[in-house]
Amino acid sequence: MIRILATDGIEQAAAEALRAKGFEVVEQFYPAEELGKQLKDFDVLVVRSATKVRQPIIDEAAEAGRLKLVIRGGVGIDNIDAKYAEEKGIAVRNTPNASSISVAELTLGHILAVTRFVALANVTMRDGKWEKKKYEGVEIFGKTIGLVGFGRIAKEVAKRAHALGMKVKYTDICGKAEGFDEFEFCDLNEIITTSDFVSMHIPFSKADGALIGEKELNAMKDGAFVINCSRGGIVDEAALLAALNSGKIAGAALDVFEDEPTANEALVNHPRVSVTPHIGASTVEAQKRIGEEIVETIEKFF
Ligand code: 3PG
Repeated sequence: MIRILATDGIEQAAAEALRAKGFEVVEQFYPAEELGKQLKDFDVLVVRSATKVRQPIIDEAAEAGRLKLVIRGGVGIDNIDAKYAEEKGIAVRNTPNASSISVAELTLGHILAVTRFVALANVTMRDGKWEKKKYEGVEIFGKTIGLVGFGRIAKEVAKRAHALGMKVKYTDICGKAEGFDEFEFCDLNEIITTSDFVSMHIPFSKADGALIGEKELNAMKDGAFVINCSRGGIVDEAALLAALNSGKIAGAALDVFEDEPTANEALVNHPRVSVTPHIGASTVEAQKRIGEEIVETIEKFF
């Protein structure tokens, strides 16, 4: 029997569908030092972003010889040494389409939250305070949003931002995208220097490090907002904190952090920062779609 280990949870409908098709599904999280050992008894590993599938785990699994497939239920595969796994004969797949709308909606939610102090006003009201005068925000209508990266999620953000009256600019290593002429393609420097909101939509690469650091933050418009619902590390957290404290940057919205599941305490508690604990893909709809893609991928693979 083909055995599947899901370490970061799996949609119950997907687990049931797999069981109905004759696969065995075990839902259990293992710490890194134990995971490699456990994988000798499984053909498939299903993870989200919490489980890190690094070289030593892959080595152990490859030596045992049973693991054939790792599925990242989600988009970013930076938690998996994917190239290394493939070299060792273990296939790696993700579910790139399933969560775009969910992440885009959270991005817009954060933009509205950070410009109108929604999160902070919630907290202080729950503390019994009525701080009406403190929370004078800004409108997003008529402002420019600059998207760094123009993949599936950024395209969904662009459509929604445009519908709310924002001017949309984007940059992407693949160049100008066809069929999106209502948005302006430009280089990263123009995004940084002319946007009221700079929103990140790219993967993180350890080798490249932070794309937005002190220099880039200083080059932004006074009072710009920085939004990151893509990957921790793309925006240098220390530099962002300094730019917020100096008043250069008006606000930031962060769903992702350099050192998850620990989040930068000073940023989390900053009055002009809107934060969530990496919940971009955490919606009923996205997880349902991810579950369906996982079932399809496993079926096709075997
Ligand atoms: C992704 O890359 O799909 C998102 O960042 C979501 O990650 P998660 O599955 O750990 O919530």
